[in-house]
Amino acid sequence: MSKYQAEFERSIRDRETYWGEIAKQVHWDKPWDKVLDDTDKPYYRWFTGAEVNTCYNALDIHVAEGRGDQNALIYDSAMVGEVRRYTYRQLTEETARFAGALANLGVARGDRVIIYMPMIPEAVIAMLACARLGAVHSVVFGGFAANELAVRIDDAKPHTIVSASCGLEPGRTIAYKPLLDEAVDLAQHKPHSCVIFQRPELAADMQAGRDHDWNEIVAAAEPAPCVPVKATDPLYILYTSGTTGQPKGVVRDNGGHIVALKWSMKHIYGVEPGEVFWAASDVGWVVGHSYIVYAPLFAGNTTILFEGKPVGTPDPGAFWRILAEHKVSVMFTAPTAFRAIKKEDPNGEHLKKYDLSKFRTLFLAGERTDPDTLHWAEDKLKVPVIDHWWQTETGWAICANLIGIEHLPVKEGSPSKPAPGWNLTVLDESNQPAAAGEIGSLVVELPLPPGSFPTLWNAKERFFEAYLAESPGYYKTADAGFIDEDGYVFVMSRTDDIINVAGHRLSTGAMEEVLSSHPDVAECAVTGVNDSLKGQLPLGLLVLNAGCTTPGEQIVRECVALVRAKIGPVAAFKEAVVVKRLPKTRSGKILRGTVSKIADNEPWQMPATIDDPEILNEITEALQSIGYPKS
Ligand code: COA
Ligand code: AMP
Repeated sequence: MSKYQAEFERSIRDRETYWGEIAKQVHWDKPWDKVLDDTDKPYYRWFTGAEVNTCYNALDIHVAEGRGDQNALIYDSAMVGEVRRYTYRQLTEETARFAGALANLGVARGDRVIIYMPMIPEAVIAMLACARLGAVHSVVFGGFAANELAVRIDDAKPHTIVSASCGLEPGRTIAYKPLLDEAVDLAQHKPHSCVIFQRPELAADMQAGRDHDWNEIVAAAEPAPCVPVKATDPLYILYTSGTTGQPKGVVRDNGGHIVALKWSMKHIYGVEPGEVFWAASDVGWVVGHSYIVYAPLFAGNTTILFEGKPVGTPDPGAFWRILAEHKVSVMFTAPTAFRAIKKEDPNGEHLKKYDLSKFRTLFLAGERTDPDTLHWAEDKLKVPVIDHWWQTETGWAICANLIGIEHLPVKEGSPSKPAPGWNLTVLDESNQPAAAGEIGSLVVELPLPPGSFPTLWNAKERFFEAYLAESPGYYKTADAGFIDEDGYVFVMSRTDDIINVAGHRLSTGAMEEVLSSHPDVAECAVTGVNDSLKGQLPLGLLVLNAGCTTPGEQIVRECVALVRAKIGPVAAFKEAVVVKRLPKTRSGKILRGTVSKIADNEPWQMPATIDDPEILNEITEALQSIGYPKS
C-alpha cells in the first residue's frame, strides 16, 4: 500500500486516534475531554472540553521556543514600493498592543469585530489581536461595495469595525472610509466604535466619538495577554456567496483549525518550520485567512503579504521578484494569476532576471487548473505544479497531491486524491454511489475533519438545509465531478448558481437581485460565460417592462453601474443584453446552463422541458448582437 493510501485509511478508520495524535503539536491551555464529540449528530465537534488560544499558537509560542528573531511576516507592496519585515517578537508585541487597544474600546471575548482593510500588515495584526482576546473577527474583502458590507454588519453585529483610510488598486486609490460610513448608515446595527488606520496616501475624515485613529489608541494601550477560549468557540466568521443575496457566514472554530492547519504545512505543502511560504491571495478570502495568516504562523514559517497584482505592478515579473527577493520555498495562488502572466509574457522573459533557486513547489487553487496553465507553469518554473481543491467552508484542501507525504504522479485536470480526513464519494441523482468515471455530486462522509466549518453564523437551520439535508450522512460540496479508476478526483462544475470569476466565488442570484431592482427591468437572469483570463465572467439577460421607452443600451449601462455600486467591482459584471423573453422550462425554471452554452459556442441540446423552443433563437440573436460567441 502506498504511503499516501496508508495515511488516508488511518485517518478514516480511526479518526480520534489520528487527529488526537496530531493535536499534540498544539499548545493547549486545558486538554480535551473528547477528540471527536458525536453526541449531536449530524453536528460534530472536535476537541470538546479543551481550551486554547489561536494567537498564542501563531505568535507567542514561537518567541517562547526561540524563533523570536525570525521573520514572521514580510509585507511587500508593489503599490507603494515598500518592504517591511516583522520578526515573531515584533509581531507578537504589535499584536498584543493592538489587542490592548481593542480591549480599551470594550472588545471582549465573543464580541465580533469586522475588519475591512486592504493588504497591509495592520489587517493581519487586527485578525491576530481579535484571536488574542477571544473576539470573533469577520474580514470583508475590500472589493465589496458598501451594501455588501452593510449586510455583513447586520448579520455579524460587530462591537467594533477596523478599517483603513484607503486601498490601492493600479491607477486608483480607493477611499475605504466613505464606503464604511455608507455601510454603517445602511445597516440597522450600529457598531460601538470604528478604528481607522490612516495611510499616508489618503487621509480619512473621522467621526468624533465613534472613530478612533489606530496609532493614537495603540500608543495609549498596554499589551493584552492571550485569553484562553474553548476549542469549539468561533475564531472567525467569513462570509461567502450563497445562492441568494444573503451571504453565508462560515464559522471557523479555534481548536480544530490550529490542529489541521499546522499539520497541513508539512504534510500538504511540504514546508519545514523556518521556511518562507507565500500565498498570493487577499486576506479577505479563505486562502488569505488560512495560508497568508494562520497556517504559516502556526507552523513557524515566514509568511508574505503582497500588495499588488501579478501583472501591471509594474510588470509580469512581479511574482518572480517576490520569489527571488524573499527566498520563497513554496507558493500558492490561483490559476487566473498565472493566465494573466502568461498572456503578457508568454515566453517567460521576465523570469530570466531572477534567481529562483530556493523555489520548490507551486500550488494552485480557487478554480480548476486548466492543462495549458499547468504545463506553462511547469515548463517555465521547472518545479512541481499542484492543483488542489477546497472551499471557504472546508478551510483547507479536500483534495491535494500531498507532497509532504507522497508525491503522486500528476494527472492534468485533477486535484489528485482526497486529503486525510476527507472521505469523498460521488453520488448519482438517486443518492447512490456512482461508478468510477461517472459524473455526480461530490460529497464527503461525515464527520468532516478538524478545521472545517461546524456551522453557519446564527443559521444552524440553513447550515443543515444547504449542506446536510440532501444526502443524509454526507456534506454536499455543491461541486459536481467524478473519481476515476485510480482514485483521482476531477472537479467539473458547481451544482448551484455560483460562478467563479478570477478565483473569486460569486452568486449569480445576488446579481439578479440587484438587476431586478432597476425600475425598467421586469425579469432577468445572470449566467457565467467562459473567459480566457478570469475563467468565467457574469453575463446578464434583461427583460424590460412593457412600454419601457428608455433605450436598451442605456438600461444596460445603468445595470452595470448598479451591480458595481451594490455588490462591488469584484463582481466584474460588465455585460448584459436586452431580450424579449427568458428561456424557461414549463415549470418556470430559467435555462441558464443552455444560455451559457450558446454564448460559449458549446454543443447544446434542446431541453425537453422547454416552454417555447423559439426563445432560444431569440437569445442566440441577442447574444450575437453583443459579439457572442467570442470563439
Ligand atoms: N479593493 C477594491 N477594488 C478591488 C479590490 C480591492 N481589494 N480587488 C479588486 N478590486 C477591483 C479591481 O480594481 C477591478 O476593478 P475594475 O473593474 O475597475 O478593473 C475589479 O475589482 C476586479 O478585480 P480582479 O478580479 O482582481 O481583476 P483585475 O482585472 O484587477 O485582475 C487578475 C485580474 C487575474 C490579475 C486578478 O484577478 C488576480 O490576481 N487574481 C488572483 C486571484 C486570487 O487571488 N484569488 C483568491 C483565491 S486563491
Ligand atoms: P471558495 O469558497 O471561494 O474558495 O470557492 C470554492 C469553489 O471554488 C469550489 O466549490 C469550486 O467550485 C472552486 N474550486 C476551488 N478550487 C478548485 C480546484 N482546485 N478545482 C476546481 N474547482 C475549484
